[in-house]
Amino acid sequence: MTQPPAPPSGCPVSQGRVPLSGPRFQTDPTRLYREMRRDHGAVAPIVLDGDIPAWLVIGYRELHQVTGDPVLFSRDSELWNQWDHIPADWPLLPMIGRKQPSILYTVGPRHTERAAMISDALEAVDPFALKRYAEKFADALIDKFCATGGTEIIAEYAMLLPARVLAKIYGFSDTIGHALVGSLNDMIDGRERALAGQQHLASSMFQLLADKHAEPGDDVASRMIADRGHFTDEEIAQDLMVMMAAGHQPTADWIGNSLRLMLTDDRFAASLSGGRHSVAEAMNEVLWEDTPSQNIAGRWASRDTRLGGRHIQAGDLLVLGIGAANADPQVRTDGSEMTGGNNAFLSFGHGEHRCPFPAQETAEVIARTGIEVLLDRLPDIDLAVPAGQLTRRPSPWLRGLTGLPLTFTPTLALGPVTETDTGGQR
Ligand code: HEM
Repeated sequence: MTQPPAPPSGCPVSQGRVPLSGPRFQTDPTRLYREMRRDHGAVAPIVLDGDIPAWLVIGYRELHQVTGDPVLFSRDSELWNQWDHIPADWPLLPMIGRKQPSILYTVGPRHTERAAMISDALEAVDPFALKRYAEKFADALIDKFCATGGTEIIAEYAMLLPARVLAKIYGFSDTIGHALVGSLNDMIDGRERALAGQQHLASSMFQLLADKHAEPGDDVASRMIADRGHFTDEEIAQDLMVMMAAGHQPTADWIGNSLRLMLTDDRFAASLSGGRHSVAEAMNEVLWEDTPSQNIAGRWASRDTRLGGRHIQAGDLLVLGIGAANADPQVRTDGSEMTGGNNAFLSFGHGEHRCPFPAQETAEVIARTGIEVLLDRLPDIDLAVPAGQLTRRPSPWLRGLTGLPLTFTPTLALGPVTETDTGGQR
């Protein structure tokens, strides 16, 4: 392994470290990660908001190593050696939490048990029912704008569909599920309505659990209660919140980023007139080249160690540089543009804390169905603005579009569609 360039000596913490912020994470991440690799090697020293030091793991092999060793590189945020420097109002606290009783910060055998509870509950969802819900909600959303000839598809569709489907399979009624989507998006927005959104989401989860205790159903929440082992309602509610937030936003971004690719890249132009094969191809390519899960926090070193030629101290935070690792020239040696059916990307993570396999499948069904239904209903969709005017959310973490304005030939709404109307077939 080549040694990284020597860090500059005798300088303040932030000098020589790359800030994990700034417009280039939105406008030009590929070149930015290439420069980071050139200047710092596979493990780059970074600073987070407020000059807090951390490492960004941008080598594919190194990221594999970190996510594959949950004892040395732990999910337990209590290990962090920077807590004394973190102010109470630190903007990243909602993401890098302390003492949060959810699966995200649980480690060891308790985590294995918890991940199994979540996986089993999701795996028992009937795949035909899941697809049917996705089609039904997709049709209902498209009905609202299909007669107008134009829409902003991120706000009017991509940011609504995954949460509606997830709420349905978790066990919410459609009415409560639809109301929840607004709160969830408020919470993710991180602006003035974020706290109210989070509180509404939490109280809805507790209400859901109370309802399912009283009357269990064929849904994820009821299965988690039945399979709870020694997990409390509080813990199950926390996990359902994670499953809602961690499930909704990246799936919405997966829809948006894939549609953008299909609408701006000639290789996918044919798909717009009905080639479904290229929907899957575009979605796969997005997970390699433009993944929603760009950078994820993180892991904490449980003891001093070396990684990618760097000395990592006990308690150091390692941010998972998924977008950069996917582009590591050490694994992308063939130079081909198309990623085909290769799914060795790290976009769903790796190791014990990876996105649970049934969750990955759930995301895939929702995103693919969402795109297919849209193309079926509005086959001549086109960008309403030049591609160069499309912008990304100002965040180095989850990568998604701020908007994707489309035009299309106006069509008639289908009208109310019930679950049984579609019969799982299109
Ligand atoms: C495109 C969609 C998605 C992407 C890109 C994605 C990505 C990821 C990644 C990278 C992780 C690992 C984080 C880490 O190692 O620290 C993760 C974890 C997780 N994801 Fe997903 N995810 C997606 C959709 C979903 C959906 C739909 C659900 C729920 C139905 C879900 C539930 C979870 C849960 C519960 C974890 C935590 C696992 C653990 O800590 O053991 N994700 N996801």
